[in-house]
Amino acid sequence: MNDFSNSQLTAHRHDDDVCTNESNNPTLQSMVDARLSRREVLVGGLGAAAAFTVGSSGLLASPEAQALPSGFTLNFNPVAKSLEDVVTVPEGYTVTVLSPLGEALNTSTPAWAGDGSETGDSYAFRAGDHHDGMYYFGLSSDGSRPDPSNSRRGLLCRNHENITQPFLHANGATVVGGVRTVADEVVKEMNAHGVSVVELVAGPSRAVPVATNPSSRFNRRITSLTDIEMSGPVRGDAQLVTRYSPDGTRTRGTINNCANGFTPWGTYLTCEENWAFYFRRSGTDNANRSPAEVTALNRYGITQGSAGNYGWTTVVPSDASDTRFSRWDATVAGSTAAEDFRNAPNTFGWVVEIDPYNPQSTPRKRTAMARFFHEGAWPANFVVGRPLVYYMGCDSRGEYIYKFVSKAVLDPRDLNNADRLAVGDKYLDNGTLYVARFDADGSGTWVPLQFGVNGLDANNAIYPFSSQADVLLHARLAADSVGATKMDRPEWGAVNRLNGEVYFTLTNNSARGVGTGPAVDAANPRSYADQKGATTQRGNVNGHIIRFREAGNRSAATTFKWDIFGFGAQADADPATVNVSGLTDVNDLSSPDGLWFGRDSNASNGLLWIQTDDGAYTDVTNCMLLAAVPGSVGDGGVTTINGQTTYVGAKASASRMRRFLVGPKGCELTGLDSTPDGRVLFVNIQHPGENTPAALLGNPAAYESHWPANDGVSRPRSATLAIVKNDFGVIGL
Ligand code: FEO
Ligand code: CA
Ligand code: CA
Ligand code: CA
Repeated sequence: MNDFSNSQLTAHRHDDDVCTNESNNPTLQSMVDARLSRREVLVGGLGAAAAFTVGSSGLLASPEAQALPSGFTLNFNPVAKSLEDVVTVPEGYTVTVLSPLGEALNTSTPAWAGDGSETGDSYAFRAGDHHDGMYYFGLSSDGSRPDPSNSRRGLLCRNHENITQPFLHANGATVVGGVRTVADEVVKEMNAHGVSVVELVAGPSRAVPVATNPSSRFNRRITSLTDIEMSGPVRGDAQLVTRYSPDGTRTRGTINNCANGFTPWGTYLTCEENWAFYFRRSGTDNANRSPAEVTALNRYGITQGSAGNYGWTTVVPSDASDTRFSRWDATVAGSTAAEDFRNAPNTFGWVVEIDPYNPQSTPRKRTAMARFFHEGAWPANFVVGRPLVYYMGCDSRGEYIYKFVSKAVLDPRDLNNADRLAVGDKYLDNGTLYVARFDADGSGTWVPLQFGVNGLDANNAIYPFSSQADVLLHARLAADSVGATKMDRPEWGAVNRLNGEVYFTLTNNSARGVGTGPAVDAANPRSYADQKGATTQRGNVNGHIIRFREAGNRSAATTFKWDIFGFGAQADADPATVNVSGLTDVNDLSSPDGLWFGRDSNASNGLLWIQTDDGAYTDVTNCMLLAAVPGSVGDGGVTTINGQTTYVGAKASASRMRRFLVGPKGCELTGLDSTPDGRVLFVNIQHPGENTPAALLGNPAAYESHWPANDGVSRPRSATLAIVKNDFGVIGL
């Protein structure tokens, strides 16, 4: 499609100065020394490691941290801020659109009609809506087996977080007297959520670097109607019993799949974020609940009287045994839990493992990784003989950052086992959950959330925990009990493959330092006012990115050092209290959300990529993607913002961070991956034109966006971008 404009911006042409990566600073040198001494410990017990090919899965046979490269340079002209309805990338890059909303995933499903006339059932074989987190899994050239290093044939696993409801239907949602009267519309909405697996094959030219294969046997949808197994410590718990699964071992579907993760044995992790708001509860349901249940339901946002998203529960099915709609009603209705869906909310809020290479496999919800509003699950470097570690954020105002440390240590013999979900059982069903506390002195502690430890028992004043399953089900309450640090909305994490440091976006927090909201603290140090037209925005308006280095560079450590890599701000904001990182027109941003390090651990690919999902600076620019040279914890220093002491990274000069892409109107940028060779970058455009009210459907010229068609008529579509450098070099460098 021909809807892109290359940036003509030359006013901010960079001067090619080398980055601020100081690999010989004392702190980093001590890391390297520590690494070398550990290597000696590792030798001997891990002979099997050499048999496994170190590839794009990121597996390391030796240390968790390597020396940082001596220097590398961002090598593109920054893209200007823009309010245009196009995708803008730097000169020298080409963008194509891949697998947009509604595209058929097999050859028997009709093409997307573009007018909302597609059936609900057909969306079980179409790309879903609101493309989000994603991961590319390489296939062998003949398509017969996994090949993690193949950039020319692979499977793209991709989340479909939500829907832009008006554009899914011919005339928007049909609602009569508060009731959804067209069941097929609701089926379409349920099927447009979830996950897609679609095969990609290398295309003939840089204008078509990759294309989807509609005939692939791997193409698959997993939706909010797909049967899923509950796995791990909560499987079979009485609190999972529903009419759908009287023994509490299964549930139906996954929903609000936001960001993602991956494993070294070739599976995809999809994470359930704002799932709670799909559930209805009657206005009197508390009377039929225990005090503990009411506490838990309230803490997870499913308060008595909640209506449930999109009115799905209002459908009256033609067949009374059809529970696809009533299963979203968590009201106590029967005499036992096996007769209703009071416990259905307990079957959501998990990390879900999918085997993309086996289209017949049933996904598994990994309950050991706890239940909250999961943004994603980001692995630490995989090291033979060490536990697997996943970093996870709970995205709501004032929520927490967690990590999961597996009990099993990584055995490379498991990585070629074709029963990939059985391998997942071994590593992801048993481990220790921690929550982060960021202390005022720049250190931090991982506090274990274990039944019977730190007061997590029946006598707890916040919630009477009865078992480890209960702690995992109610991880937010457990974290409250142990004094975890309330963060400014944890979104994506990312692990620097080169030095093991962990980054998290804290997208914004309108409650920080406002009214009864949490006061500023060292790790969430800003609260200020910002003007957007006539509106005064308050709190941490533009967000920040925090990072930490685990003690001894061991991802399973229980302490860490942190600093703030950078603060979002508009370039002309006060440098002392708001624009603390010194952003300029080439890199000012607001509401960082997606984060990604190049998937390859080779030194040329160590850039940090930052996406925005913003509403605060959208009077000036659409959402964007930036590239940054990461540096390392401690490369800035101590500073004070309005009396609050904190620790910051080096300033964001143009050589350290610059804008790579600006998206079309009304979208957010989210989801990032590349082919294993780093030559094709995948980026998702989510919900272009989402601010278009249903009442305007009859007036196409008035749609907020027509992207990607850009013909002034078409409905906008979420889609994946495939971006290549015109010389097929590594993106960004
Ligand atoms: Fe789905 Fe927190 O973004
Ligand atoms: Ca402003
Ligand atoms: Ca997000
Ligand atoms: Ca978002």
